[in-house]
Amino acid sequence: MYDQIEITSQFPILNRTSPSGSPLIYLDSAATALKPQCVIDAVHEMLSQHTANIHRSVHFLSDEATDAYEGTRDIVAAFINAEPNEIVFLRNTTEALNLIANNFDRKGRRVISSYAEHHSNYLPWTDEVYRLSLNAAGQIDLQELQRELEKNDVGLISLSQISNVTGNIIDIKAVSVLAHQYGAKVLVDAAQSAPHLPIDVLELDCDFLAFSGHKLGAPTGVGVLFGKAELLEEMDLFLKGGSTIEEVSADGTYIPKNAPWKFEAGTPAIESVVGLSKAITFLMNIGMDEVHASFTQLSQFALQEIQNKLPAGCIVGAVDKTSGGPFSLNFKGLSPHTLARGLSDRYGICVRSGFHCAQPLHDQLCVPASLRISFWIYNNEDEISKTVDGIVQLTDIISR
Ligand code: ALA
Repeated sequence: MYDQIEITSQFPILNRTSPSGSPLIYLDSAATALKPQCVIDAVHEMLSQHTANIHRSVHFLSDEATDAYEGTRDIVAAFINAEPNEIVFLRNTTEALNLIANNFDRKGRRVISSYAEHHSNYLPWTDEVYRLSLNAAGQIDLQELQRELEKNDVGLISLSQISNVTGNIIDIKAVSVLAHQYGAKVLVDAAQSAPHLPIDVLELDCDFLAFSGHKLGAPTGVGVLFGKAELLEEMDLFLKGGSTIEEVSADGTYIPKNAPWKFEAGTPAIESVVGLSKAITFLMNIGMDEVHASFTQLSQFALQEIQNKLPAGCIVGAVDKTSGGPFSLNFKGLSPHTLARGLSDRYGICVRSGFHCAQPLHDQLCVPASLRISFWIYNNEDEISKTVDGIVQLTDIISR
């Protein structure tokens, strides 16, 4: 297991206190992760020493910026076992999912998704979509999936690998095996899984996969779409503009660049992309197997604390052996926003409250809203205990 104290020391924000004077406890990493010093330094270095636009100008500053940007593609490719030309830089997971929704030609065939998706993987699929329900274990039902596939009219399956509400892990490999038997493609929303699990797109045999840099410790403004090379090549431009074309005529006809560059319209978030390379290198140096093992251990501890100290049945969704964090909690009659405000203002603890951009899942589970605890590599058991104790104290105060 990695050295927890050494890793935590790499995140300077953890040295600050909250407005109430308590040390910061950050348990909202499913929304966005804190940034390590190496990422902050890389962004500072780009802005102070290498500011230039990429792929355009013929001067040394542009060469340096272009090399740093394109070098990130190699690092991201190694991180998920893809080829560099299969890595598209976009703004975030949401933009990547919308690119596929708009540009992948399903040839009139249906989409299969689920009720467990966050809004970014829900709203793009409005036409001809079948949504899988979750079974009692919080899993999609592979038999239901097979029944739909047997109708031979499914073009794409789009599922989150880890739910941002319940933490349930979907067996994407099993989905891919089934999907490909029936000629359907598989799009994986890895927004929550990329920070926690080793991802190998060859092993998963997915066709597309999307994640956001900011949940991995990179700056906001950069997300990644992986697509199998031949599928990316088949798709037309997403946004039309600078950097996407080889040639354009006065009448507006154009010859597009090859993938992935044809999808990266306009000046991209150059500093954020370079920051992503440092965030991924930081994680690869720890080792994603180590990250996953630590996450699993902390999840088990959090589960015990919640089950020992909080009211029975407060965990939203099923908790089974595949669940890790995050944990979403509901306390009947208590507003999660009131609890989140209390945790923040009394104890300096940051969590998320509401629907976590997943209202249909809350509706399916008949939960009005919830309080979510989500953690990452810099969190420890003491912080989880303090948070659960804080919830106990606040629920007591509010209920009096
Ligand atoms: N989907 C992100 C979350 O779970 C924003 O908080």
